[in-house]
Amino acid sequence: MELLEQEYKNLVNGDRMANGRWIDIFSPVDGSLCGRVPAMSREDIDQAVLGCRQAQEKWQRTPVFKRAEILYRAADLLEQQAEEIAGMLVMEIAKDKKSALSEVKRSADLLRYTADVGKNSRGEAIFGDNFPGGSRNKMSFVSRVPMGTVLAVSPFNYPVNLSVSKIAPALMGGNTVLLKPATQGAVSALMTAYLLDKAGLPKGVLNTVTGRGSEIGDYTVTHPGVDFVNFTGSTQVGEHISQICSMKPMIMELGGKDAAIVLEDGDLNFAADNIVDGAYSYSGQRCTAVKRILAVEPVAGRLVEKLKTRIERLKQGDPREEGVTITPLISREAADAAQKLIDDALQKGAELIIGNRREGNLLAPTLIDKVTTDMELAWIEPFAPVLPILRVKNAAQAVEIANRSEYGLQSSVFTSSIDRAFAIASRLEVGTVQINNKTERGPDNFPFLGVKNSGMGTQGVKYSIEAMTRPKAVTINLRGGSF
Ligand code: NAP
Ligand code: G3P
Repeated sequence: MELLEQEYKNLVNGDRMANGRWIDIFSPVDGSLCGRVPAMSREDIDQAVLGCRQAQEKWQRTPVFKRAEILYRAADLLEQQAEEIAGMLVMEIAKDKKSALSEVKRSADLLRYTADVGKNSRGEAIFGDNFPGGSRNKMSFVSRVPMGTVLAVSPFNYPVNLSVSKIAPALMGGNTVLLKPATQGAVSALMTAYLLDKAGLPKGVLNTVTGRGSEIGDYTVTHPGVDFVNFTGSTQVGEHISQICSMKPMIMELGGKDAAIVLEDGDLNFAADNIVDGAYSYSGQRCTAVKRILAVEPVAGRLVEKLKTRIERLKQGDPREEGVTITPLISREAADAAQKLIDDALQKGAELIIGNRREGNLLAPTLIDKVTTDMELAWIEPFAPVLPILRVKNAAQAVEIANRSEYGLQSSVFTSSIDRAFAIASRLEVGTVQINNKTERGPDNFPFLGVKNSGMGTQGVKYSIEAMTRPKAVTINLRGGSF
């Protein structure tokens, strides 16, 4: 990792490390050292913020097409380095190789789409409009201007995609960006930031802050030099940040408990395929993972059998091996939390269909039937390959239980009637309803939002650019008169 450290030091001007401390990042796969990132001090953070602010004026006056050119170049560089960055994702966050490569590729696509939005007629998200006043002598000219320095805080499960999904629209909107990646995932995130820098970003337009959120997080989010916070992470941390950052504009993407509603007229094979993929890919460590099934009684038994057959085929183990889906969770604490939910459900009478086996952080894909609403697993986000089935009487009860959750990210509805699907979708209190599909965010240009404890604000390129810019009105007052 010497090379990366050197590159990183170039990126953040290594001699700025006032305290010279580093954090060793170890792999959850085999305990090997993935890399080291600076444990930055408050002085280092002040310097990083100052760098952004000094670069702001020139950057926001950079023509939109020139910003776009840099993003296009960054996309090419990301694709050229895809194998290397994916290899780091595999080791640093135990993401299977296929998902890791997919994360890098989709991030390159996101950069290009963002550049497109800026460069061509779809750039309306950046440009403003004008309004004639009531009298003929007043005219208001409205343009969109950047919020200023955007703090992008990304989570461990998508260190590349959920950094780029903030950085690219922020830059296209004329903002400078301070990236604070999750510590577990920081090496992958810094490799990505480094490529953005290499693509031609002027010095200071993108800076990075590393260090444990519990130590430097509060200082960074409340920093007076930070004008906007774009956060993705747990609801617990998100709530904390929103409390200490009063009056600071922000976007939050938080936890989820996405429900897959399966009705008696749904295609059970199709639903089972989608649910298994949606619940167990990357070991369920996706905010949009299917995290509970609400199945009507008449089909629940057959659905369970179909799910079990598919789960038995899932390969678990080392993410470096071909075809592995179930990999070690990010930490022992995460595995302990998931195990606690399993134990609670089984002690209260739920029925284990498959799984509930553990080797260290590696949890076997687990399916638990006849989960009831008095069990924690019905409501708490496991962020693990653990899926509860709640049997319901009908669609109305499914909607009622779905909406009782503190979360509101996404839901799926499996039915053959498009009319029923839309009727149910209109009643679900979530950001997105997937009709006959697993819950998922992509493609990244789609609007993506959570309601209730799943977040606030909307991401999705065009929406993100709008959120990280604001209208600025200049009113011209004519004195009138004839000509
Ligand atoms: P997390 O523990 O909340 O951490 C998220 C980020 O916040 C990390 O970069 C973390 O840094 C940082 N952080 C921690 N405390 C902070 C503070 N006081 N101030 C500022 N930043 C702070 O979440 P995670 O474990 O990385 O990710 C899993 C969670 O994120 C799950 O709940 C999942 O549902 C949610 N998530 C939601 C979405 C979505 O799109 N809605 C997407 C992905 C994940 P450190 O790593 O250094 O602690
Ligand atoms: O959990 C992160 C969120 O961005 C999920 O993306 O495409 O896996 O649904 P996706």
